[in-house]
Amino acid sequence: MSWFSQAFSSSLGKKYIMAVTGLMLGGFLLVHAAGNSSIFWGRHAFIGYAEHLHALGPLIPVAEFILLSIFLLHVVTGIQLFLANLQARSERYAVSTPAGGRTLGSKTMPYTGALILSFILLHLYNVRFTDQSVPVADIVNNVLSQPVYTLLYSTGILVLALHVSHGFWSLFQTLGMNHPRYDRIIRTMASLVCAVIIAVFLVILFLLFSNSSLLA
Ligand code: HEM
Repeated sequence: MSWFSQAFSSSLGKKYIMAVTGLMLGGFLLVHAAGNSSIFWGRHAFIGYAEHLHALGPLIPVAEFILLSIFLLHVVTGIQLFLANLQARSERYAVSTPAGGRTLGSKTMPYTGALILSFILLHLYNVRFTDQSVPVADIVNNVLSQPVYTLLYSTGILVLALHVSHGFWSLFQTLGMNHPRYDRIIRTMASLVCAVIIAVFLVILFLLFSNSSLLA
């Protein structure tokens, strides 16, 4: 069996797929949070950022296709691992305590994953599959100035924080990126980056909710 088909069929291979695709999705979140942070500087800065992005032209559908493929691979492999784990547990030979112990993050991974998927579908419906002739600043403002969306988005982002907190820890284990000397510093840096990404999204939500003229 080639290494490629082995990666897709063995459970260790699947863990690698989860780690690598998870890291890539984390990279997308970092870029997305950085781009959206232009909202802090108001309507013109945000529209300017969106115009720069759209100037990439045909590269955009290519990037979207790659992002969607990575996302689907992460979701489908995650479901396969979840089902395999359920089956193993019912056959009573599963190792019920993962390395690092059972934290809230590790116990809820499949459920937070499903909630994040629902959040992303709602988000795409709000900002992507909507009338694209409306300026992006108005699209975002119209959605995120409504309390119900502030609540739904904050919940989605907090659930994302829980998922990513364990995901990051887990991918360091899977990829063997741990060294007794640097372990602590690598993890602190990773947690810090995650915390900043989540904080940027939450601050944007708070600002749009409390200051309706920010993007006006
Ligand atoms: C304050 C929070 C957020 C704001 C204001 C925001 C804003 C936006 C906007 C304006 C777009 C459309 C970009 C365009 O087509 O020009 C977009 C796309 C997208 N967002 Fe967000 N977003 C936020 C949070 C999130 C979070 C937390 C996630 C992931 C869990 C996410 C995932 C996505 C995805 C997957 C796309 C589609 C990318 C594409 O097709 O190019 N967003 N977002």
